Amino acid sequence: MKTVIIGTGSFAPPRVVTNDDLAEVMDTSDEWIRTRTGIEQRHISDGPGTTWMAAEAAKLALKDAGVEPEDIDIIIAATTTADNCFPSAACEVQGILGAGNAVGYDVSAACSGFIFALHTMDGLMKTGAYETGLVIGVDNLSKVVDWSDRSTCVLFGDGAGAAVVRVLEEEEDRDGGGILAADMGSDGRKAEVLRCQSRTMGNFLTGTKPEPGYITMEGQEVFKFAVKKVPECIQRVLEKGGLDAGDIKYFVLHQANYRICESIAKRLKVSMDKIPMNIEHYGNTSGATIPILLDELNREGKLEPGDKIILAGFGAGLTWGAVLLQW
Ligand code: ACO
Repeated sequence: MKTVIIGTGSFAPPRVVTNDDLAEVMDTSDEWIRTRTGIEQRHISDGPGTTWMAAEAAKLALKDAGVEPEDIDIIIAATTTADNCFPSAACEVQGILGAGNAVGYDVSAACSGFIFALHTMDGLMKTGAYETGLVIGVDNLSKVVDWSDRSTCVLFGDGAGAAVVRVLEEEEDRDGGGILAADMGSDGRKAEVLRCQSRTMGNFLTGTKPEPGYITMEGQEVFKFAVKKVPECIQRVLEKGGLDAGDIKYFVLHQANYRICESIAKRLKVSMDKIPMNIEHYGNTSGATIPILLDELNREGKLEPGDKIILAGFGAGLTWGAVLLQW
């Protein structure tokens, strides 16, 4: 049994905010942002948020897969910025799609979320409980960044990406295609490095009022963590799959910072030709970066049957993870 991606979709809000736009309202510059991160612009949702973006990406993924909403058995959305504490983003998307036969829920692993959701989906599909699934990575970080903190707010953008997956029995095996191996990790001892406090801290008994939580980040700690953990995790999935880095066509990495991706490429001893990037257009869309990039590669016809690719991410938790798959 293998879980195969049979369709992808992505969506970002139409409103684009360039580095120069930011430089008009805060003490920053296009040069600072571009040279330190590779980001040139980001998409910002000025109204509706996570549910809307997720549903738009999901509709495109379903169309690409040729799957009707009622055929979906399970929806897992990876997000830390669901529009509501409850219901989950997945249930909201289910309602919009009219996917009445599905069960939906969210997973929370920040920027590693899509990897965690895909690995979770793979495990569930292989139990035989579900046949067709929808995995979504979506975040609306522009609503939880502190726009007076230039060291974080310039990094993020909004967006969503989705993949439709189906489990295939041995006899339906498409030339060995599907998810071949995965690996996830977390270290809660480093939680302080990257945090966004929830808005549930109010307390009737003590009279404490809930405070809005904003992203706080120790940028250099995140940098060091990412360039160590991601290559290690990629090596583990390569070993599990019996492959080496040279066998991989693309490493689809979380788009947090161009320099982090360069550093990972160096540690893996692969050229940047194997590391597709789109951070310049979107900034860091957290749980959405990997499925957006995957969708772009798919739509540009860059993925051929038989190609082996690795999706890998890292984020708050701290969390990290990688999935090896054959297209
Ligand atoms: N514009 C201009 N100057 C700025 C800005 C800005 N937007 N932000 C910070 N600065 C200034 C600082 O105030 C500081 O000034 P000082 O030297 O006078 O004190 C100077 O730039 C250097 O600040 P640092 O924080 O040391 O900058 P650094 O070179 O570390 O770059 C960055 C910051 C880009 C965040 C880097 O640490 C990084 O890439 N870290 C990785 C973290 C990351 O990518 N996080 C993304 C989200 S997390 C995730 O996706 C998992």
